[in-house]
Amino acid sequence: MSKQNTSTDTQPRQKDGGQVMEKLVSLCKRRGFVYQSSEIYGGLNGAWDYGPLGVELLKNIKDAWWKEMTYRKNIEGIDAAILMHPRVWEASGHVENFTDPMVDCKQCKARYRVDVLLESFSDKALKKLADSFFENLEKTTTPSLRDRLVHDIFDEMEKISTVYPDLQFQPVSDSVEAKLSHLKSPTMRRLREAPYAIKEFLSSPRIFDPIIELGLVQCPQCGNKGTFTPARKFNLMFKTFVGPVEDSSAVVYLRPETAQGIFVNFLNVQAASRQKLPFGIAQIGKAFRNEINTKNFLFRTREFEQMEMQFFVKPGSDDKWFEYWREQRWNWFIKYGMPSDRLQWHQHPPDKLAHYAKNAYDIEYKFPFGWGEIEGIHNRTDFDLSRHQEYSGKNMQYFDEEAKEKYTPFIIETSAGASRSFMAFLVNAYAEEEAPSAEGKMETRVVMKFHPKLAPIKAAIFPLVNRDGMPEIAEKIETELRPHLRVFYDDSGAVGRRYRRQDEIGTPYCITIDSETLQNQTVTVRERDSMVQERVAIDKLLSYLTTKLM
Ligand code: GAP
Repeated sequence: MSKQNTSTDTQPRQKDGGQVMEKLVSLCKRRGFVYQSSEIYGGLNGAWDYGPLGVELLKNIKDAWWKEMTYRKNIEGIDAAILMHPRVWEASGHVENFTDPMVDCKQCKARYRVDVLLESFSDKALKKLADSFFENLEKTTTPSLRDRLVHDIFDEMEKISTVYPDLQFQPVSDSVEAKLSHLKSPTMRRLREAPYAIKEFLSSPRIFDPIIELGLVQCPQCGNKGTFTPARKFNLMFKTFVGPVEDSSAVVYLRPETAQGIFVNFLNVQAASRQKLPFGIAQIGKAFRNEINTKNFLFRTREFEQMEMQFFVKPGSDDKWFEYWREQRWNWFIKYGMPSDRLQWHQHPPDKLAHYAKNAYDIEYKFPFGWGEIEGIHNRTDFDLSRHQEYSGKNMQYFDEEAKEKYTPFIIETSAGASRSFMAFLVNAYAEEEAPSAEGKMETRVVMKFHPKLAPIKAAIFPLVNRDGMPEIAEKIETELRPHLRVFYDDSGAVGRRYRRQDEIGTPYCITIDSETLQNQTVTVRERDSMVQERVAIDKLLSYLTTKLM
């Protein structure tokens, strides 16, 4: 649970990033990967439906994760309910902390998350805002308010300078006068001219709240200044009621993460599976967050799926396991086709760690709109089990038979978004290439270079022509392969166009039945990326394909 926007997913767009996203969204709809939810009613923001190919791709990603994580002797799987006892979310800290600061424009009713509002400002506008804040401090605020703000400014500066040493911040003496005169110093100029630091500085509630109160912020939608409400905390959990009475005693939440279903079942699973520490529990499931701003297609949605694993370890061994899982999870993305130069680590700076975390790294993927988190690896310490013990009154400790001692395990969490990984795999697969057509003319082919294991359709079967017994052979091949593999039969149009249609959805193999088939019972198998064709005997086709797809 990290509501602070610590990731670098807001970096400037790549030059053609918008175009790639537009093409992908259009391909997804046209070919049946993803549709807007409730489209015929104008759509519902932040919710998407997976079509026939999308559901296959998503399932293949989840299967690949499930196999990777649970086909180990020290990891068990579970599937917990989405609705949980409301005390779970008090214990977890979500009722209190799972919030975003948000402002409303009183004039045009636009609603903004504070950090997103500041993101919409140019670097020049941010600098101007900081300048006018510092000027107004001296001019218009009452002395006592001014003194408090001056201290807050320097406290914030000190905090930010631990993350950005290039600001060369020097502590300033405690007197307000010294600090006021320091507002014009080179350090402060450096802050105002460093977009990354100024945004962070301005979005701190201690700084942003008075800026709003002073009426210095202009609404990007209606252009009015001074029309924003004070920043309010907005809880991102969806609330609903169990039973017919809609009062506070019946409140339940749609889970905002799958992790809590694992923590509360720690002892159940441990007892049933007789696992000894260290061991993990994995789960894939839906999570819901009432995000104020959904964005970038599937990147930030209100309903999404997570693939989480909580690994319970003896305190003291947590750093070692943290590093182990970091490596494992990075390698998983590489194994399924992500090049390492499109992945990077982002460590959460100490002052941005979630309240439960001792250490946290995100794996970020380079999307067309910038770097964005796809998975978080967190050292959650003994926070979760201790809190559930405190709130439920049940002992959540583990008895270590070897050491003959009881303790509260530490937890290393690997938390990936299935929907976000889906989008990263989609973006990663998308390619436009020059390739010769059947007539030898060069043309652009769109090809989704999915890892064969993730590809929604594994093989397409084409009779070259609809006569001479070719369709009958093709249908027989289809009947033989279908129980083992997701295959697609296509007999319409020129074979070159059929190849292109399969390239566009990432089918790794296309099988063509041609005149040679009639003579020697072999077919051509064309590989999607190299476009190389091989002749394979029909009776060897299944083992040929399954070996390739292993
Ligand atoms: N249990 C820890 C946890 O939930 P998180 O960083 O809030 O941590 C983990 O979320 C992952 O869930 C993220 O890396 C991302 O892939 C996915 N995720 C989070 N919020 C999302 C959203 N609104 N839409 C899609 N995926 C989201």
